[in-house]
Amino acid sequence: MKEIKIESTLYVFESLGELPKEVLFLMEKAVEAREKAYAPYSNFHVGAAILLDNGEVVLGSNQENASYPSGLCAERTAIFYAGSQFPKAKIVRMAITAGSKKSKTTKPIPPCGACRQSIAEYETKQDAPIEIYFMGEIGKIVKSNSLSNLLPLGFDKSVL
Ligand code: THU
Repeated sequence: MKEIKIESTLYVFESLGELPKEVLFLMEKAVEAREKAYAPYSNFHVGAAILLDNGEVVLGSNQENASYPSGLCAERTAIFYAGSQFPKAKIVRMAITAGSKKSKTTKPIPPCGACRQSIAEYETKQDAPIEIYFMGEIGKIVKSNSLSNLLPLGFDKSVL
């Protein structure tokens, strides 16, 4: 038996003021998206903003449903829209922000497992990494240079 260690490197920014200008712009778009979330059941509002290599910015927010599993996360709403509207464009980066209506969300909120799997598909499709930035409503922002840092041992087309 041998042990395998898996390491990921993430970067932490103390506040929005520390972000490069172009990333701050995208995170502000994610906030705009979050404000349009439809989340009457969880009261947890999530916004995602995607920058494409053609300059387009695509937004998405979580869309809930009385039949709970029929709802969709913000990240997948945004990335499926990007994939369907701009199938040839590459995704440069995604900014994500999440906030609960019950209390101020100060912790950075990473994408859920299903969203990680979906974002990973687009890294495979475009054969290039996607930068991910995520935060709560206020406070620290975490950056990953690639989705793969957030999803080690990912399942992709190479096994099919
Ligand atoms: N949610 C997202 O939009 N993104 C995630 O990565 C995790 C969860 C949404 C789904 C649901 O509407 C609410 O947050 C609570 O789970």
